[in-house]
Amino acid sequence: MAQRPLCIAGNWKMFHTPKSSAQFVFSLKKHLSDLDFPSFQEKHPLDLLLFPPYTNIGVMQQLCTSYPISIGAQNMHQKEEGAYTGEISGIMLQEMGCSYVIIGHSERRKYFFEENSLLGEKIEAALAQGITPVYCVGESEEERTEGKAFDVVEKQLREALESSSQIFKKEILVAYEPVWAIGTGKNATPEDAEDMAQHIRSVLKLLGNEAFGNSTRILYGGSVKPNNIGSFLEKENVDGALIGGASLDPESYASMVKVAMEITQK
Ligand code: PGA
Repeated sequence: MAQRPLCIAGNWKMFHTPKSSAQFVFSLKKHLSDLDFPSFQEKHPLDLLLFPPYTNIGVMQQLCTSYPISIGAQNMHQKEEGAYTGEISGIMLQEMGCSYVIIGHSERRKYFFEENSLLGEKIEAALAQGITPVYCVGESEEERTEGKAFDVVEKQLREALESSSQIFKKEILVAYEPVWAIGTGKNATPEDAEDMAQHIRSVLKLLGNEAFGNSTRILYGGSVKPNNIGSFLEKENVDGALIGGASLDPESYASMVKVAMEITQK
């Protein structure tokens, strides 16, 4: 099994209000009440992350004080401040207590035309604030059919990461999310996820260094559910999951956490 701590991350996209987020946390605590939380992280090398909409970060942060869940944001601007109406910067997130931020989710690439070089700037800006970026990469269905998946993902990594050697001195997470698997119910096979995770790790070693490649956690995302998460987490190079739809319900998120906890005990 991998030495890297597993990571179970819920990407809520544009779902849940501040009120329903609070209800989620109350309910999650009930579903996980049989777990010994104060000593949870000593026993389980496992990070639990939730990425609610910006408006819900404050309330969730408060409710998760002394609870082992870290709250992150789904995006941020690359500049620290400025005349950018409607945008949120890293320093703002950092002051809200965010320790993680998703960068380059395929929905940001598709609907907001975010490109690799811009995403590299966002990664650097997050790191400058001490926020760990979760950089998303993944191919379209057509690219996979044409046998280009490895090249596409390599390009996404290269163009975002190679601009700054500073990146390789810090912690980032990479989420492999094949676009055709997101929200479709069609997940990649655990073997395909493992092959891509191995490829990503070797690219990270080439771009950065051996230690960076070995220590970076690589998550799989795309139609992860309680009934399939275990098969991904068992893979050597897959260090967790980025979960959309199935993370919105506290019972479902809790059952995925329980699967991960069992795997950490093996
Ligand atoms: P999904 O979304 O789990 O609903 O497929 C994953 C994601 O977009 O991160």
